[in-house]
Order: sequence, then structure tokens, then C-alpha cells
Amino acid sequence: MTTTTTSGVAKLLLNDEEYDLPVVVGSEGETGLDISKLRAQSGAITLDQGYGNTGSCMSDITFIDGEKGILRYRGYPIDDLADKADFLEICWLLIYGELPTKAQIGEFRRDLTVHTLLHEDMKKFFEGYPPNAHPMGILAAMVSSLSTFYEVFGKGDAEEDVYLNICRLIAKLPTIAAFSYKKSIGQPFIYPDNDLTYCDNFLNMMFAVPSERYRVSPVLSHALNMLLVLHADHEQNCSTSTVRMVGSSQANLFASVAAGITALWGPLHGGANQKVLEMLRRIRDDGGNYQKYVAMAKDKKSSFRLMGFGHRVYKNFDPRARLLKKSCDAVLAELGIDDPLLDIAKNLEQVALEDEFFISRKLYPNVDFYSGIIYRAMGFPVDMFTVLFAMGRLPGWIAQWKEMREQGGRINRPRQIYTGPQERKYVAIGGRG
Ligand code: SDX
Repeated sequence: MTTTTTSGVAKLLLNDEEYDLPVVVGSEGETGLDISKLRAQSGAITLDQGYGNTGSCMSDITFIDGEKGILRYRGYPIDDLADKADFLEICWLLIYGELPTKAQIGEFRRDLTVHTLLHEDMKKFFEGYPPNAHPMGILAAMVSSLSTFYEVFGKGDAEEDVYLNICRLIAKLPTIAAFSYKKSIGQPFIYPDNDLTYCDNFLNMMFAVPSERYRVSPVLSHALNMLLVLHADHEQNCSTSTVRMVGSSQANLFASVAAGITALWGPLHGGANQKVLEMLRRIRDDGGNYQKYVAMAKDKKSSFRLMGFGHRVYKNFDPRARLLKKSCDAVLAELGIDDPLLDIAKNLEQVALEDEFFISRKLYPNVDFYSGIIYRAMGFPVDMFTVLFAMGRLPGWIAQWKEMREQGGRINRPRQIYTGPQERKYVAIGGRG
């Protein structure tokens, strides 16, 4: 833990009683009221549906300032990292807290390459899935199944045992993802090639075929690296909180991350990148009338939302969206693609950012708004978009799970305010009319 200070107390007055709540201040000046003794002292709990005002933990890993649009991994601004850092460096930084030395990253790369293969029996699982199986469903099941092939470690597991499973997970996720894509298009699996970099290897497994050489495009590889870096961690988002929740029961790493994958799949979370593309296609097919869809998003009677807009924390531009918007133009230009969906996206963004409904609610494009356009330009099918998000987020999930375990926290078990029926007597079936 870097630095937190307690600076005095906040006073709570409840039923004519006064209670002291210690004030905790983080290294970036964030203030929290420690209510860990509130129920014992006052009998009352707090209520915060959706946890928008509740800190679940203290963490050294990622800092977000939603008002200023700041995102930093272990203190390094995302703007510095996105275009310069290698994704495996970011994995090491998030998990172990510092940028790796040359020796450390060299050893880490070697350790990963010897774990890229799946157990041959796990390959058989793919035979059971229907051809149109969503790859997120496969990913969650396969990651959970890793815990049936490899020894998982209980509390107090040795550092090297945790490191081994971290390497297995980071190395095998791309293989599982690529195999699920090949399964869906009826092509043979392409095995990992340990001579290739992490991104090149994934692109090769995705797009190579046994019958001809596949040359990995440096443009695609660089774009993929940047996308994975941008998605690597995002403090206590829905899926990361899920990983911490499951891990707090001392469930193993594979089981905890599998839970995170299923939470990420939701369209309000990581599944939004797929929904953004589907929304842009719907607008294109509807004559490109994006104003109509802005009006629908504002209509309280309509359940339609502009996917890729809004964020629980960012009340300013999501810095990742800003970086992705810039790289969108570059990647499409380098690939020689003129995608009308990008024009629709830019028009939609322009109209929304000038509209009082969005301005008053501080709804800005988020990370999912532009990522799908780049994924599509790179040749990924829409239902692989959230899988790519999961591949990027994996080191963040691992880092948060490891930090939670090292902090020795208790099992996560929130309370509730009960609003159901008060005590009543059982009535036998004959007496129920
Ligand atoms: C990610 O948490 C993270 O860090 C997540 C993430 C990460 O890296 O892990 O950043 C990744 O999940 C990004 C978000 C991707 N999801 C979407 O793009 C789906 C569309 N956006 C939303 O549904 C919504 O904005 C959320 C889920 C992102 C945030 O939801 P909140 O914070 O609960 O906000 P809300 O639903 O309470 O909305 C506040 C108001 C409401 O209007 P009023 O009731 O006040 O009149 O804003 C409106 C909402 O109706 N609103 C939208 C909207 N998002 C919110 N209106 C139209 N379109 C939208 N997209």
C-alpha cells in the first residue's frame, strides 16, 4: 500500500447519538469515510444501490479521476503508455507494481511462451459447442475448466505457484479465444507459434490457415497492442469487482477470472462494444439518420440507449475514447479502409455532445464507442469484440485478485435493507383457498 492517511473524523448524528467515522485520504487526495464499525456502534448500515458512492477497497493499482478524464496504471498516465508500452510490460506493471527490467520482461516472455498450448483434452470441449456459440460463453467455461487441469492453490499459496498460474492464464487466453473463432468458421485450429510476439501470435492463430503462409501486419499488431493496453485495468468496475468478490471466498484464480468474464459480457459493460457496432449498422441501414437515434435515446418512453456513451465514473471524456478516436483514423488509413460507420459514429458523437440531454447528464463517448470500429477494420467479427476486451482486461483482473489476496481481506459479504413481509404463520394447502 503506497500512502493513505486518516485525517480526523466525520460526525454522524443518528437518533440523537453522535458517531465518529474516521476519514481516510488516498494518495491522490480522495476522501473516504470508514464505516467498518458503523453497524456495531449504531445498529445502522449504509445503503448505496449500484455502489456509486461506496469504496470496496483500498488499492495501489489504477487511479481514475472521472471529472478530469485521468487514467493511470501504477501512476503512469494512459496517454504515455497506450502507444509506447508493450502489452506484456503493462501486464507486469499492473501485477507486480513496477515497469519490468530487461531481464524481468525477457524471463516473463519466455515463461509465457511455454504455456501457450491448451491441454489436448481441452481441445475436445470445442467439439461440443454449436457453431454459433458466443465466444464469451466459451471463454468463461474454458477459463473455469483450466482449474480442473492444473493444480490450484489455496490460501497461503507460494509466490511461484501463483506466478505459474498467472503465466498459464495470460498465455492460454489468446489460444482459447482464437480456437473459439476458428471453431465458429469451421477452420482448423492454428497452434501457437512461440517464435512470435504475444500480439503477432494471436493474430496468426486467428487469421492464418494451414494451407498458406500468413504474414502478420505490423499495423494490425501495433493496433492490437494499443487496444490491449487501453483495456488492461480500470479500478473497481463491474467485472473487476466480481473477480474480487469471488476471490474473497478464496476461490482460485481461474474460477475468479471466469466470473469476471461473465460480468464483462453484459451489454452495459464490456458487451457494449459489440452493441455499438450493431447500433451503428442499424443507423446505417436506416438511411444513416443518426439524429433519429439521438432523439430515441432522449425519449424516456424508449428503452433505447446510445451504446458507447456514458460512464459511472467519467463525467468528462473517457481518455481511452479520445486515444481510440485518434487511432481510428490512423488504423483505417493504414489499412486503406473507408468505413461509413466511422462517419456515422463521428456525427453521432458531434450531435450528442452538443445536446443538452447529454451535456446535463455528462454523457461522453466511452472506451467502447470507437474500439469496435477498429476491431472491425482489423477483421475481427463482432462477437469477438468483447473477447478482445477480456484479453486486454486480464492483467487487471489478475492484479486486483492478487492485491486482494495479499491484503488478507475478509470474505466480501454486503448487508441489505429488508423490505419483504413481516413474520407470518404457515398455512397448510387446504387452508389457502
Ligand atoms: C464499460 O466501470 C467501468 O470502468 C466500465 C468500463 C471499464 O473499463 O471497465 O469503463 C467499461 O463498461 C464502459 C461502459 C459501456 N456501456 C455502455 O456504453 C452502455 C451505455 N451506457 C449506459 O447504459 C450507462 O451510461 C452506464 C451503464 C455506462 C453507466 O450507467 P449509470 O452510471 O448507472 O448511469 P445511469 O444509468 O444512472 O444514467 C444516468 C442518466 C439516466 O437518465 P435519467 O434517468 O437521469 O434521466 O443518463 C442516462 C440515463 O437514462 N443515460 C443514457 C445513457 N447512459 C446513461 N441515456 C442515453 N444513452 C446512454 N448511453
